[in-house]
Amino acid sequence: MTGVESTSSWAALTAHHAATSSLHIRDLFSADPSRFTNFSLKFEDLLMDYSKNCVTDETMKLLYALAQERDVTAKAKEMYSGAKINNTEKRAVLHVALRNQSNTPILVDGQDVMPEVNAVLAKIKVFTEKVRSGDWKGHTGKSIDTIVNIGIGGSDLGPVMVCEALKPYCKRDLKMLFCSNVDGTHIAEILKQCNVETTLFLVASKTFTTQETMTNAHTAKKWVLDQYGGDESTIAKHFAALSTNGEAVSKFGIDTENMFGFWDWVGGRYSLWSAIGTPIALSIGFDNWMEMHAGAHAMDLHFLNSPPEENLPLTLALIGIWYNNFHGAETLAILPYDQYMHRFAAYFQQGDMESNGKYVDKDGKRVEVQTGPVIWGEPGTNGQHAFYQLIHQGTKIIPCDFLAPIETQNNVVKDLNGPTDHHPILLSNYFAQTEAMAFGKSADQVRAELKGTMSDEEVEALVPHKVFEGNRPSTSMLFQKLTPRMLGILISLYEMKIFAQGAIWGINSFDQWGVELGKALAKKILPELEGEGEVSSHDSSTNGLINYYKANKK
Ligand code: F6P
Repeated sequence: MTGVESTSSWAALTAHHAATSSLHIRDLFSADPSRFTNFSLKFEDLLMDYSKNCVTDETMKLLYALAQERDVTAKAKEMYSGAKINNTEKRAVLHVALRNQSNTPILVDGQDVMPEVNAVLAKIKVFTEKVRSGDWKGHTGKSIDTIVNIGIGGSDLGPVMVCEALKPYCKRDLKMLFCSNVDGTHIAEILKQCNVETTLFLVASKTFTTQETMTNAHTAKKWVLDQYGGDESTIAKHFAALSTNGEAVSKFGIDTENMFGFWDWVGGRYSLWSAIGTPIALSIGFDNWMEMHAGAHAMDLHFLNSPPEENLPLTLALIGIWYNNFHGAETLAILPYDQYMHRFAAYFQQGDMESNGKYVDKDGKRVEVQTGPVIWGEPGTNGQHAFYQLIHQGTKIIPCDFLAPIETQNNVVKDLNGPTDHHPILLSNYFAQTEAMAFGKSADQVRAELKGTMSDEEVEALVPHKVFEGNRPSTSMLFQKLTPRMLGILISLYEMKIFAQGAIWGINSFDQWGVELGKALAKKILPELEGEGEVSSHDSSTNGLINYYKANKK
């Protein structure tokens, strides 16, 4: 495949960047009173305003041309058609099939996957309703009040993020706990919160071989068996598996009746729509989980069928490319002004960085341009009191996505005398931050403010510190309410953005070889930690660290 840097649109964008690099967002707004209308898009209840970015009509025209030259839509169609676009693993990429509520056939190797998808969803529905209604009984006949999901990466982050984001819809008397870290502290603290009689463990692992998950699962199993005098029959009442690996599930001792399967064409970081989402269905109910699927499906179709200029994921992807590849930005901050979305950025750290953190293209050739950005972020307003200083006055360009609901789920009134509740306070910050970032504050404004409060000399000394240059880019998403459907829309929006960027860079967004080396080395080191004597099989730093640990461990 030709590198993206050799395309004519890349050359045109490079020239355009050079010609427009001194543009200020402030000037773009002065020149166009309708800039907000001209640079914002809507999808259902979601408004995406990208006007506070350093882009002109020409920039967008060139970016859309780039998407066309890189065949983004054709590549998306290929993905939806079940083609094996994950070429290094020879796999189709079909998380879209999991939420294909239109139920149109999607073929893998000539076989429609929809009947199987629907069958597993039906099985999850029955199971989750049985647990939620109290009909599922533990070994001593008591109903379940605690779910422990044991999984890591995609088998953890999605369900955690969604269960947090949709807490208003959750069954409050069903405690949801998530154990991911192999650090024994994680499971130890979780087990302290569990009563064996009323706890159900979900072992969530696509491969059912992941070291962290299997270690925690075995510890949980031992914990259950210890309390039931080693009675193996208790496992069927207290364990279920979410996996593609039936053989390993049986070997672990989980009845395959209690196994919810999926397929190799579901990537771990895209798996919350599959059986990996079972904890979500347990927490918010199967129908709400399906509402999420419906929202994501609607956004999938929008991505596939809308013209580029109206296409939210494509536009978001192209703005990202503009900063990442032409302005030299290294990161993207995702900043939800909704406490319920406090794991959203963490979820897309895996979603984006595991997908697009690649330095070779699909053909194994070195990519000559920057690929995936570093994703980070915390909910507003907490971030404002932590890292926004650097966003406003630092030396780096940090494109930011601001997300907020118009309606809160908790109308909390601040005091008895006033109508002021928390939500307008939160949103005033949401609106203020992007305004401050884009427009800044000039030296003259600072002077005017300080005049008369101190000597002229002192004013001049302070001015450079209090000036905000502005021209800091942001995209604002404003949606009506964080419903299950809206969360589905937002997740698909970002998933398809990631897809579009990967397609433009020409990389495989669906493998993750970069996680393997560390895993393999850890396997080699473990027996060295447990064995006697000094270790000398590594470089001097690794040997030194291991030997220091061995000399000092108690
Ligand atoms: O190590 C990375 C990874 O393979 C992720 O892609 C995946 O989400 C995670 O590990 C967990 O994998 P599994 O579901 O097979 O346990």
